[in-house]
Amino acid sequence: MCGIIGINGIHDASPRLVEGLRRLEYRGYDSAGVATLVNGHIERRRAEGKLSNLDMKLRDQPLSGTVGIGHTRWATHGGPTENNAHPHATKRVAVVHNGIIENYQELKDELTGHGYVFESATDTEVIVHLVTYYLDQQGMTPVQASAAAFKRFTGAFALVLIFAGEHELMIGARHGTPLAVGYGDGEMYLASDAFALAPLTNRICYLEDGDWVEVSRAATIVHDASDAVVDRPVKTTAVSGALIGKDGYRHYMLKEIYEQPQVIGDTLNAYINPETGTFTLPDFPFDLAGASKLTIVACGTAYYAGFVAKYWFETLARIPVEVDIASEFRYREAPLPPGGIALFISQSGETLDTLEALRYCKRQGQKILSIVNAPESTIARESDAVLYTMAGPEIGVASTKAFTTQLTTLACLAVTVGRARGAIDQERMQQIAHALREVPARAADVLAHDERLKELAQEVSEARDVLYLGRGAMYPLALEGALKLKEISYIHAEGYAAGELKHGPIALIDDNVPVIVLVPSDALFEKVVSNVQEVCARSGKVLLLADRKGIDKLKDKVRWSVELPACDPLVAPLLYAIPVQLLAYHTAVLKGTDVDQPRNLAKSVTVE
Ligand code: AGP
Repeated sequence: MCGIIGINGIHDASPRLVEGLRRLEYRGYDSAGVATLVNGHIERRRAEGKLSNLDMKLRDQPLSGTVGIGHTRWATHGGPTENNAHPHATKRVAVVHNGIIENYQELKDELTGHGYVFESATDTEVIVHLVTYYLDQQGMTPVQASAAAFKRFTGAFALVLIFAGEHELMIGARHGTPLAVGYGDGEMYLASDAFALAPLTNRICYLEDGDWVEVSRAATIVHDASDAVVDRPVKTTAVSGALIGKDGYRHYMLKEIYEQPQVIGDTLNAYINPETGTFTLPDFPFDLAGASKLTIVACGTAYYAGFVAKYWFETLARIPVEVDIASEFRYREAPLPPGGIALFISQSGETLDTLEALRYCKRQGQKILSIVNAPESTIARESDAVLYTMAGPEIGVASTKAFTTQLTTLACLAVTVGRARGAIDQERMQQIAHALREVPARAADVLAHDERLKELAQEVSEARDVLYLGRGAMYPLALEGALKLKEISYIHAEGYAAGELKHGPIALIDDNVPVIVLVPSDALFEKVVSNVQEVCARSGKVLLLADRKGIDKLKDKVRWSVELPACDPLVAPLLYAIPVQLLAYHTAVLKGTDVDQPRNLAKSVTVE
């Protein structure tokens, strides 16, 4: 998703804008740009591709000025070209924007009718022409023109405006996508998140939906959607100023895969007392154990974590669970039980589909529990209760350590609820606590197969299609494995419930389709063994992920195998996630893709 930053400062803005954009790179982008006020005029530098291209342009044509805005663009309307890169500007006003102005075509037609000429294919450009129209032809001040324009937009937008000749003014607005105000020493800032502002300040105010703000070095005035002046709390954020490095790893994704033993352990320590082995989840302002049903909603990998949790809540807590992807759930108008509870899972805490699904549930009177990794994120702020994963910042677009720490948190939650409902006894709870506390060490054992998986990636990298199979909680793991592979190697992959193979997909099986089968020694082991035999009987190439029992049973039938540690079936998803992450990673490296920032993808999807 796009990243935006604005500085109303006393020092040159350009280098610090670029530094802020570097901290927003993790969101994924395909062009970048900055604009400053130079002797009262708006000057821009924009470049296609990576920030290094913008850096080169600024070295050749430096930008002075202490007031400026910057942007990393993830293309939605109009290709990733320099001409479509932000900031967009007229002689009077420049803007950087994250989101989509859904009624842009109607506004564009109206403004074209007023004689305004558009130079880009973006939705964003309507912003500067509409504000200019209000300035030029309606005689409004910049503040009035901005307020009037914001009321005309539909869709999601976080934006920052600067105005020719207005060295004291920067205007920001937040509608559906986050925007933070940074309070410096004699300077003021606006940005998509606190991480971008960390080198400049740790005093942050998060705007609420519908807010817009007049930012000058002397004062900051926040308005709500009705233009009334409101107070928003200024917090001291804990976000680190240190740029996250790769610590010697080739990619952030590999570093984050290897961080999993540590961060799973950190998350376990947050929710299991290391001395007593008792679960220590906080009390919630609602009775989760008494809920008649639990609705779980998320996107992508976070959804697969919720899907695994469905099996856990239903078996351990005997609580009915509905799990759905947010982009479908938010429009289904699903009937929800009075006083029901909805659980939202999100690494970034900013995924717009998940946020809007949360708001739907809130409107339906549900109590909201969320599991997020990013502190102070919008989803966290709009929930009744939050459980944080201790993954630390996840930079790689492909989610890895966030996924396994989400699973860790969900497992602790399911056990706690199961015990509270009397669905499991003390002994089973302690058994699970022990199994969970073993996971960091077992995960380190699984990482030792890295070289083996790198070899196997050679086979996978030559495939056109790959199938992943699993049953029970391994079915969502099969879906996750397929997502990992396709999103970073661009090879088509599909996850399937192993029992469904004979209902159609088995027609795909031939010697060109690697079939990755995840089969721990659990209650469905024999069923999956049969599925593996069905595949092998049709000359399918099976890569078996199993423990010793599975390997012994199938080693003569399958093409390749990787032995995983025997474990309590409940924690198998945490361990089986690692080989599918490594397989996807090494395949992508072989394919030469941009592993940390795969094409077309963003780390935080704040548009719908
Ligand atoms: C997974 O590897 C992807 N990065 C993507 O599916 C991601 O999980 C999804 O966009 C949800 O993001 P969130 O956890 O920040 O809400």
